[in-house]
Formats: sequence, structure tokens, C-alpha cells
Amino acid sequence: MNKPLSGQALDRVDGPAKVTGSARYAGEFPDEGLLYGSVVNSHVARGRIRHIDCDAALAVPGVVAVLHHLNRPPMAGDDESYEDADAAHGQPFRPLFNDRVLYSGQPLALVIATSLELARHAGSLLRIEIETAPHQTDLLAALDQAHDAPAELPKPRGDFDAAFAAASFQVDATYSTPNEHHNPMEPHASTVFYQADGSLHVHDKTQGTQNSQDYLHKVFGLPKDRVRVCAAYVGGAFGSGLRPQYQLTLAVMAALQLRRSVRVTLTRQQMFTFGYRPRTVQRLRLGADQQGRLQAIHHEVTAQTSRFEDFTEHLVEWAGMLYRCDNVATAYRLVPLDVYTPLDMRAPGAASGVIALECAMDELAENLGMDPLDLRRINFADSNGNEGKPYSSKALLDCYAQGALRFGWHQRDPQPRSMLDHGELIGWGMAGGVWEALQMKASARARLDADGHLWVSSATTDIGTGTYTVMTQIAADAAGMDLREVTFQLGDSSLPTAPLQGGSFTVSSVGSAVRQACQALRGKLVAQMKARYPELVDNEAEDFEIRAGQVHVGASVYPLDELEARVDAEPSASRQGFACATHSAVFVEVRIDEALGTLRVSRVVSAVAAGRVINPKTARSQILGGVVWGLGMALHEETQVDHALGRNMNHNLAEYHIPVNADIGEIEVIFVDEPDDIVNELGSKGVGEIGVVGVAAAVANAVRHATGRRLRDFPLTVEKLLG
Ligand code: MOS
Repeated sequence: MNKPLSGQALDRVDGPAKVTGSARYAGEFPDEGLLYGSVVNSHVARGRIRHIDCDAALAVPGVVAVLHHLNRPPMAGDDESYEDADAAHGQPFRPLFNDRVLYSGQPLALVIATSLELARHAGSLLRIEIETAPHQTDLLAALDQAHDAPAELPKPRGDFDAAFAAASFQVDATYSTPNEHHNPMEPHASTVFYQADGSLHVHDKTQGTQNSQDYLHKVFGLPKDRVRVCAAYVGGAFGSGLRPQYQLTLAVMAALQLRRSVRVTLTRQQMFTFGYRPRTVQRLRLGADQQGRLQAIHHEVTAQTSRFEDFTEHLVEWAGMLYRCDNVATAYRLVPLDVYTPLDMRAPGAASGVIALECAMDELAENLGMDPLDLRRINFADSNGNEGKPYSSKALLDCYAQGALRFGWHQRDPQPRSMLDHGELIGWGMAGGVWEALQMKASARARLDADGHLWVSSATTDIGTGTYTVMTQIAADAAGMDLREVTFQLGDSSLPTAPLQGGSFTVSSVGSAVRQACQALRGKLVAQMKARYPELVDNEAEDFEIRAGQVHVGASVYPLDELEARVDAEPSASRQGFACATHSAVFVEVRIDEALGTLRVSRVVSAVAAGRVINPKTARSQILGGVVWGLGMALHEETQVDHALGRNMNHNLAEYHIPVNADIGEIEVIFVDEPDDIVNELGSKGVGEIGVVGVAAAVANAVRHATGRRLRDFPLTVEKLLG
């Protein structure tokens, strides 16, 4: 009873449904008479549609309709209606809105048929005439077109120019990172059930059911009580489901036009036709004194965006909050291209921005002749210099110490090319990581049924992060009940309001609401029991235990009634005046065969400070996934563009390289102890994103140590290693 959150390594409560296949994903709901839509995309990067010839497609038996910009149902004409909870600055893309072609891959038509195969075949028979216009998709060729990003940057402090010029040691280096696409295992899909009364029940692949609901409400003028959006299970998203994607708009369009139920599933190739992590060019300048203390930091990024929206992410603020430095300046510019708008991808901004920062720190350490870990230690900041606020907690020094110990860092010979094993060059590199620990408004409901089972709910999603499980733990703990008597429900727009699942803030936001709702329910129960049974008036609240459908107080047992409590939770007031962030230290070993140009990452130790860890098992899985992704960012991942055609070329999982099992060696995850009563009532900071941050830089630093070569253009492929 009322034990503190146990930190139990509970198996996923949704595991059995997932492994037995009873968990249904957005594209898996069966229905008699369901129609299937197949999207036809543009192969031209810029132009105007002259004509769409649908005759051959419509002649195919089983084809019901072809929708395009001239025959679609009415949709909103203003920009605001298309803005969603993760919208970028500018004019959101509108599928099938008019004759403009804005990027290669743009959806131009939807073929609807009685089977998906028929719809795809008929789609190949469409004749679309496009008057093409010159396009530009190459960031490097258009750097002169850059404008300031509409992002809130930290205020510059001190005098960077003077401090950099006067610094004893300087680094001035430019790094680049490529476009990357999310590619969750489950492709995007929406199944729209058209109800007899004309209302819609939608199963959507999304990170925010209410975001999709609100979007459909505004774009199609549908009253909110006539659109219900569910996402009970999501097969990974990583940010790709933060905005309503075009398959949702098209499926709803078709359902409204035909008054039928319709499903639209994107192909793997079509997963490369919307948001992605944008390509960047980053110049990092660091100045330090004789002892290695940072005197000057300048982080300058140019990234790509679309011509219709200015996508921004948190790229340049990390240096000024991770390290103590009095002279810091940043610059962030965007180049509009004939491409789709980028989109948040796991640790958006930090994943790419910290690459440049942490590689530059390694370069500085080498210039100083200092151990890279020591350089970071002496520049530790216990307050966020960007905001002038102390951290609620920052156990980064413990991450450094515990990670280094586990890795054996003290045995490192700093000399590049000095560590050899069986003819392979061994490289040891490290980097730090940082991510925000945010908290949003969220609501939750707790309901005790007559059988004494606790049902707790919120409209949040579980994109594979473990939300079902962790919320069940938080609820059981707050209600003082056994886990088996608690069920958490999510993924339904009709449940209490929740933010998008993203930004690593679900535990802090929804978890706080869940805890408060369960505490409120207990409060009601205790008050009710005391009013009903005079012999209980002197009992403490902790004496009441809900178990097996009854209330136990000492040796006495009482029946229970149905009870409900609903809570709208605000971010914790205690956060005022504090900066809140998660941190990590990543240590990497690479083994390189120079003759073959092969590079293997044999070992990674990731030490993470994320406050209280509620479920060490699901949390560890998050960090493992993040580390694997970081290795992919370092060595494999890159959406390659044919700039002559303005088209993504490697749009499949055979040619878009990600690490496979054989690429991954040992990964050790350490959660350092980080008590934090300020960040929120759970003391928990979220672990969805910190795992990826810093990993790619640690690999590049290890490659430098192994080979003596500093590669600054990511990913570090074999060609670059041999080149
Ligand atoms: Mo994450 S990019 O906040 O889904």
C-alpha cells in the first residue's frame, strides 16, 4: 500500500495482444464492403497539372471512383483549418487541393476500388499531364537562398567574436547531416468506417487521436461529435504520426464522397513522400582557455525546408545549456526547396545538432591534448545558461563517471591509431547527450466498476514506447491496487484530452494526470466509506485497500460501489524558475579493417540520467532503440535524392540502409540515480528520445581515434572511410 513507485521491470501489458496478432492496427480492421484507396503520386518536383485522364482506370471492373483536385468533395480554403498541433510555420500542404505540384511524391489522385490490388493496378493506368517547371532540391546548391528560421533562439550572451579571437585554443569545423525518413515498421494507414448516420469512425495511424479529429473537423467542416479517431495500437512512428498525414485526408475524402467505408494504406515507397529529418550544414566554433574552459561557442545551422512551410526544430540551443560558457551565439537559417516539409523525428534537432557540438568538443579536446571526458567534466554547467535557470537535477557527472567505469575508458590510449587487435584498428569515442524534460497539460479519468476493477483512461497513444504498461503501473500505485486489477485505456479521441505522444513528455504529462485521477478516486472512496461506516472515521486513508472487488480495512471487509474521478492536470508548479532536461553519456568502441573499409561498432555503453525510471524494462528498450538508431545515423541512414529529377531514390528498406541485427554489438544501458522532486510529481523525465542523442558523434569520435581521420559528413559510409 502506498509504496513509492516501485520501478518494477514489468512486461508489456499489451505484449500478449501484439504477439498473438489480436492487436489491430489502423490498416487491419475488417469490414464487409470496405473500399480500398490507392494513392497516385507525382513524379515531377514542380509544375501544374494540365489534365488527368481517368478513363482507362475507371474502365477496370471493380474500380469505383478516381478522386483528384477537380472532383474531390469540398474542403477548407484557409490555411488555419489545416494547421495541426505539430504544424510548422507557413501554409500547410493540402492534398488534392488544386493543380499545383509542389514536390516529387505529392499525392495527385486516389483510385478507389473493391480491392487494394485493383486500385493499385488502376492507378497505373492514370494518365497525368503535368506542365513542369524548374526545380531545386539540393540544399548545397541553394545556400544563397537561406533566410532566418522563424525559431525562438536563445539570446546571444557575452561577445562571441572577441572571446573566440582571444581564445588560446580554437575549433572551427563544418559538419553535415542528410535527410532521413522515419520508416516505422507499420506504414501509415487510415480505415474510415462510414456510419449509417453519416458520422465517421476512423482508425488512424497517428501519435495524436485528437489532433487527427480536430484536423478533420476543420478541413471538412465535420462536427467533432461526428468524428471519432482511434489508434489503439501503433507500430512505431518516431514523429511520422505527429501530424495528420495525407492518407487520412484522402480516406476521409473518399468516404464522404462515396458514403462508404474506405481504407487507404501507404506503400513503403510512399513512406518517403512526406515528412523527414532535414538535411543540415552546421558550422561549430569553440574557443577555450589554456585549461580547456570554454570561452566562446558559436553554432550556426542551415537546414532545408519546403517552399510552403518553414520547419524548425531545436538544433542550436544545446551547447549553451549543456556547458558553462559566457560568450555564446547561434544562427539558424532555412533554405526553401521543392520538397515536402520536414517533420519532427526522434529527438528532433538534438539528434542532428548535438552531432556537430559533440564532434567539435572532441576536436577541441585533441587540440588541448586533454581527455575528451575531462574536457566535458570541467565545462559542466549546473544551470541552463540560455535561460539563466538552475537545473531541477542534472546527474550528468554521474553519467560520465558510471559510463566510463563500465566501459573501461581509463585504459584508453589517447594516441590515434594506437590500439590494435588482430589487425583491426580499435577506436574509443564518447559524447554527451541532452533532451528537454517537458510537461504538458493532460487529463485522465479513473473509474472503479462494481467488480472492483479500475479502468483508467486518457486519449494519449502508445507508439511502442510502453505507455499502456507504465500508465497501468502509475495508476495501480496511486490507487494502491494490484496491477492485475487495473486496465489503462488509450488511443481514442473520445477519452479525456491528452497531448500528442511525442517529445518524451507522455509519462510526465499523462502520468501526472493518471496519478492525480487515481488519488482523487481513492479520496472519494475513503470519504464515502467514512460517511457510510461510522467505525471507520478514525482510520487513516492508507488503511483502505481495494482488493478482489472489496474494500479491506484492517481485518474488516466492505462492499464497494462504482466510483469515478476525472482530473485535468497542469504542469507542476514546482518547475517554475527551473530548467528541466535529461542527459546522457555515450561510450563507443569501433573496430575498423582499413584494407576492407569495414567498420563495426562492437560495444556501446549509454549512461542516462532521466529522473525516476518507472519501468526499467520498457525504459531500457527505449534507450536500446535510440542507440541502434544513433549507430544508423552515424553509419547508414541517408535518403538519397536525384537532384536532376528532384526525387528520393532509395525509397525502400533494401536501399535505405538501417542497422540490422548483425551490425549491432554489445549495448549496455545504465540509468544513474537522479532524484528530482521539482520536475513533476512523479520525478520522472521521459526516456523516448535521449537514447539517440550523442550516439552518432561518439561513433565519429571513435573513428577519429581509430584511424586518425576526422570525418564530418554523415553518414560515415565505407566510401568516405576509404576515400
Ligand atoms: Mo517524437 S519526434 O516527439 O515523436
